[in-house]
Amino acid sequence: MALDRTTPNDLRAFWMPFTANRQFKQAPRMLVAADGMFYTTSDGRQVLDGTAGLWCCNAGHKRPKITEAIQKQAAELDYAPAFQMGHPKAFELANRLVDLAPEGIDHAFFTNSGSESVETALKIALAYHRAKGDSSRTRLIGRERGYHGVNFGGISVGGIVNNRRHFGTLMAGVDHMPHTHIPENQWSRGQPEHGAHLADELERIVALHGADTIAAVIVEPVAGSTGVLIPPKGYLQRLREITRKHGILLIFDEVITGFGRLGSAFAAQHFDVMPDMIACAKGLTNGVIPMGAVLTTAEIHDAFMTGPENLIELFHGYTYSGCPIASAAGLATLETYREDGLFERAAELAPYWEEAVHSLKGRRHVIDIRNMGLIGAVELEPIAGAPTKRAFNAFLKAYDKGVLIRTTGDIIAMSPPLIIEKAHIDQLIGTLAEVLDTLD
Ligand SMILES: Cc1ncc(COP(=O)(O)O)c(C=O)c1O
Repeated sequence: MALDRTTPNDLRAFWMPFTANRQFKQAPRMLVAADGMFYTTSDGRQVLDGTAGLWCCNAGHKRPKITEAIQKQAAELDYAPAFQMGHPKAFELANRLVDLAPEGIDHAFFTNSGSESVETALKIALAYHRAKGDSSRTRLIGRERGYHGVNFGGISVGGIVNNRRHFGTLMAGVDHMPHTHIPENQWSRGQPEHGAHLADELERIVALHGADTIAAVIVEPVAGSTGVLIPPKGYLQRLREITRKHGILLIFDEVITGFGRLGSAFAAQHFDVMPDMIACAKGLTNGVIPMGAVLTTAEIHDAFMTGPENLIELFHGYTYSGCPIASAAGLATLETYREDGLFERAAELAPYWEEAVHSLKGRRHVIDIRNMGLIGAVELEPIAGAPTKRAFNAFLKAYDKGVLIRTTGDIIAMSPPLIIEKAHIDQLIGTLAEVLDTLD
């Protein structure tokens, strides 16, 4: 049917991402404003944000410092070329970022999203080995159920079947470790006890392909989009030992765990495991302006800093890498986190959050609950023959009752802004309890 190009609110032209377009357009859920912990809907309702937007608005919404920084930057220097030119705020932000990162992370490469951070990290890994004369290291290892964004590298190392199967043969030379979600860990609180041995599967992959063919392993320290899979105790440490032993780089995809979600700047610090690279985005600008970054060690960066000084060292970058407005937003965001002590706040609230989320045990259809930092997941028994439907119905009912949750498969995931108050946690979990009681 022809589009109505004259009516501003004709919904058909916009092909929405990761959305059931036809269903949405029959009953749209429109957000028109946001402040603090709440969204305002187009029909004037207040909806409690239980998901920090899409795991990105860690400081809550409409933070004055961030808004002002963007306004001021747009009026002062709207854009500067990213290649062979610089502007002060990108350098300042890189410094602030490496200050926040674990000891030993010294450089930041800017991107525009989590997906681009992943592609950038994978490309740096390949080019790093080549720069060192180790050009047989071309394989990349991901994990089943992993989510690393939607670009070709990310979906190749990623392990979410629907994100992969429609898009051809993907990248060659990729293998996957098993995911860490095992039945013994049902109802786990924080890190589960069982499953560190699953990291040893990397040894099997190394034995199969030869360590000298493997460039990097990429994992989410806590897998989010696949339905919140918490790493078993000792698992990440073991992965680090094996990768180090074989000269394989370890990349942490911290797109959701970065910027306080677990109560520390990065999950690497929380788990005390030092990766070679961290891919981040989302909370870097509080979700306000697209921006991502890859953080690397000096060893990786310095491997490129050879040869004639007039030559470009890494043939990679984006028009908007470190662009002025995003850099200004990033600086204001990091200041907001620091001034409000939000990472510490997340750590302090985590025990209350854990109790609240686990109080849903015993409600109808609930078959598992897990949590870590300010992340919680409630897994529902799928409706026979209609997977995802029950959780999606929970999402719709919760939205009607004024709380925003997210679902993936039949798992409800919650990741509120770190400014959340105990009363909001009670509202979120109380509403979800009511919703679960009325679900078919
Ligand atoms: C772990 C992880 N990596 C990458 C991405 C992709 O980020 P973006 O949607 O900004 O491209 C996401 C998004 O949720 C993510 O959770």
